[in-house]
Amino acid sequence: MKRAKHIMMVMTAAPVLTGAAAMMAPKPTIGQAHKVPNFVESPNGQGISRTLTTAASFDLSNPFFKPLGTNGRTCATCHPVNQGLTFTPDYAQQVFTSTQGLDPLFAAVDGANNPLADMSTVAARATNCSMLLTKGLIRVGLPVPANAEFSLEAVDDPYGYASAKDVSCFRRPLPSTNLRFLSAVMWDGRELLNNGSVQAALRSQARDAVLGHEQAATAPTEAQITAIVNFETHLYTTQVYDVDAGDLDTRGIAAGPETLLNAVFAPGFNDAFGLARPLQRFDQNVFNIFVPWMGARAPMGRTAPKFNDLQAAQASVARGERLFNTRQFTISNVAGLNDLLGKPRIVGTCSSCHSLPNVGSNALPLFMNTGVSDASHRTADMPLYTLKNQKTGEEVQTTDPGTALTTGKWADIGKFKVPSLRALETQSPYMHNGFSGELLDIVDFYNKRFNIGLSAQEEADLKAFLKTL
Ligand code: HEC
Ligand code: HEC
Repeated sequence: MKRAKHIMMVMTAAPVLTGAAAMMAPKPTIGQAHKVPNFVESPNGQGISRTLTTAASFDLSNPFFKPLGTNGRTCATCHPVNQGLTFTPDYAQQVFTSTQGLDPLFAAVDGANNPLADMSTVAARATNCSMLLTKGLIRVGLPVPANAEFSLEAVDDPYGYASAKDVSCFRRPLPSTNLRFLSAVMWDGRELLNNGSVQAALRSQARDAVLGHEQAATAPTEAQITAIVNFETHLYTTQVYDVDAGDLDTRGIAAGPETLLNAVFAPGFNDAFGLARPLQRFDQNVFNIFVPWMGARAPMGRTAPKFNDLQAAQASVARGERLFNTRQFTISNVAGLNDLLGKPRIVGTCSSCHSLPNVGSNALPLFMNTGVSDASHRTADMPLYTLKNQKTGEEVQTTDPGTALTTGKWADIGKFKVPSLRALETQSPYMHNGFSGELLDIVDFYNKRFNIGLSAQEEADLKAFLKTL
């Protein structure tokens, strides 16, 4: 995230910020029907993203922008439109600095590492909101379900708060955009699993967010919930400009949120694993945006004519897209996949799991443990939980029990949904727990996890591709 220089370049190279961006700063004026254009562009680490609404305009009088609870927060506190409906640690730091940590974003309930900690001074707020400030993480507090197959044997919480009644799961705010492509709501899918359908899950999610994040004493009205869900389900976001590869929505390149309007979504669509009914014919070429850039070739030898940097960057993006679709490796030890299929080894590609065409989520509500919350990846700032199987006495350590906190199932520990990969640059740091802010680290995580054997150039190509999405 050492990227201030890049942002400056973007500002001079493509000064396209609309007035709407400024109007959508953290606290929009409430009570008046402000109307702004139907898209907003905003700079991020590696370029510019665009969010568009298929409604006539962004309606800032929607309850999405109203504080419906007691702590002054709105949905836009954590899902600001001008940040691609999520936020980065840089954004949190800016809000902290300009308000001395008094913005509702830093409400103790889940903005602080420990909701009971001292928040009386700027220094105390900075210390106690360190997860929010350094990794953009919100504390999602969930109880161990009453009839769980496991018990919480030990808690190693650096903030001295978590317990079986309130297990602190530090998670990234999933963007409340591109929601048409969801098959599961929340990282652990709890809103889907508790409500049956995505539509019902989004309604329940809005209600829970008002009662939880916004600390409301009473639930929002059905009309407010309808308005919120209606607002957020009209939004689409992608990257449209990349500091290295340039404009992404020109010269036959089908990038930009407009292209998502026609993207197909149906439950189970393009399932790679034979799990959908009816069975799907899987096309591994999940992303086919940058094929036209494949022609750009690298220079030959030192005497070659000075090569165009832009062309080289574009060729790298195209190679990355092809690697994502076609580079085979063996998927093993993924709970929620290998066990589900009864196959200890599955030959697949990145696009096997991230299989929804040009979106990268999965059209089935699959929850998988790829190892992100394993004890081996624990950093000193994360809590570590020891869970014990009630039947077998087996113990496992994790930084986040994931789906198991909803189902109570031992087998669901550490499982999370397959997230969309669009507008990744608005979502740094990545994975449910902000594992790393660098996409190269994410690629390297997979390279090691699945023993893929990617070369340094191939890793760089995959990164170049991912950051343009
Ligand atoms: C304090 C910050 C905060 C506030 C306020 C907030 N959210 Fe969120 N939102 C999050 C976090 C964190 C997650 C991911 C939590 C998880 O997966 O456990 C999330 C997830 C979501 C998702 C799920 C997206 C997906 O891909 O599954 C939606 C939709 C959403 N929020 C909408 C809303 C709405 C609507 C409101 C207002 C009623 C709201 N949020 C208020 C932080 C917030
Ligand atoms: C076995 C299924 C599977 C495979 C194969 C897979 N992924 Fe993932 N991917 C997931 C899951 C599940 C998550 C969420 C994990 C978490 O947060 O704990 C994820 C998360 C990600 C994220 C983070 C997105 C965000 O919003 O933070 C990126 C980037 C990503 N994957 C890229 C890739 C690439 C590149 C490959 C190929 C090298 C790949 N994935 C292969 C299942 C998979």
